[in-house]
Amino acid sequence: MNNVLVTGGAGFIGSNFVRHLLAREPRVNVINLDALTYAGSLENLTGLPDPARHTFIHGDIEDQPLVDALLREHRIDTVVHFAAETHVDRSILGPRKFIQTNIIGTFTLLEAVRKFWLVEKAIPLGNVRFHHISTDEVFGSLNPEEEAFSEKTPYAPNSPYAASKAASDHMVRAYGHTYGLPYSITNCSNNYGPYQFPEKLIPLMILNAVKGIPLPVYGDGGQIRDWLYVEDHCEAIRLVVKHSHPGETYNIGGDNQPTNLAVVEMLCEILDEVLPSSPYKPHAGLIQYVADRPGHDRRYAMDITKIQRELGWKPRWSLEEGLRKTVMWYLDHQGWVEAIQQQGDYQTWIEKNYAERGGSA
Ligand code: NAD
Ligand code: TYD
Repeated sequence: MNNVLVTGGAGFIGSNFVRHLLAREPRVNVINLDALTYAGSLENLTGLPDPARHTFIHGDIEDQPLVDALLREHRIDTVVHFAAETHVDRSILGPRKFIQTNIIGTFTLLEAVRKFWLVEKAIPLGNVRFHHISTDEVFGSLNPEEEAFSEKTPYAPNSPYAASKAASDHMVRAYGHTYGLPYSITNCSNNYGPYQFPEKLIPLMILNAVKGIPLPVYGDGGQIRDWLYVEDHCEAIRLVVKHSHPGETYNIGGDNQPTNLAVVEMLCEILDEVLPSSPYKPHAGLIQYVADRPGHDRRYAMDITKIQRELGWKPRWSLEEGLRKTVMWYLDHQGWVEAIQQQGDYQTWIEKNYAERGGSA
């Protein structure tokens, strides 16, 4: 791992990963390709450790000539592919972009590395790796009594987002099987932490609560997710890229299963404690049940035995600790929050999504 192309490195997990890699791998150069869609921002890349080893390229992963040229110019030996459309609710209201970016975009990157690494043999095969970032959502939804998803669980994606991620996972695997591309895939559960775009559950709830805006819980709030603090995810990805054998997939998760309502209540309790004079205390009084998401997956859970056994990884942060750190980060980064919320798309999305649900958030 010398010259790493990170795609989507101006988004939530990608920007955390760029920071993590620069801090933890002192010889690695990072080439960060990001289209700066509504979800990406250069605000996420201020104050990087050792910025001289980071090059930002504003561009689209679907731009084949650009991607081909980047690989050559920077002699890329490792790709860590985050770039995607990622919000399930947006995929329900407008799936086309998900097909474009998540499927065609991944295909474009695969074609580029196939030519550069496998046809031209520009870099010894033992030194290259295409690492694809995926999600637990490709496995579908679990009943309460079912066992957690393992790497052997059959795919059964339910939303357009999950289906587009599943398709891209299959393409990566097919390039490994057919052309011998050295790849790895990680399927991770829901992340939270610094720099998450504030339309996702946890930052939305923190920022609404602080302003006394209702906290829109979909349906009965009994849906279960497995939550992982983003820094733990970055550590897991780095270990997989460095130490796993090609062709392996790993499930990553936080080993917890709270309901959405329980997560929102935990956030409210933390805010009650750290903002004792807030006029909106108790913040849980702001909870409002709104119309559910169509086809809403009821439960996800990850079996992380394989990555624990083979690479010695386990989450460092408990949900309680991670939520507390996240609340403090959002309270301490008002400038970032304002810059991101002023982006054209944020307000439009909030109005569109919650007006249709009958909420007043
Ligand atoms: P995000 O929406 O915050 O960021 C996505 C980034 O990709 C943005 O910076 C955006 O500008 C960029 N991008 C989008 N389309 C692009 C294109 N065509 N070309 C170049 N860049 C483009 O997403 P995230 O939450 O950081 O997720 C990153 C990856 O992790 C995704 O692949 C997602 O499926 C996966 N994942 C996310 C979670 C989660 O909880 N957030 C969990 C598991 C897996
Ligand atoms: P989200 O952050 O969109 O992640 P995902 O759908 O990929 O799991 O949502 C997490 C959970 O929170 C999901 O079950 C939907 C729910 N949710 C709400 O109840 N209210 C909201 O306003 C949002 C954005 C999500």
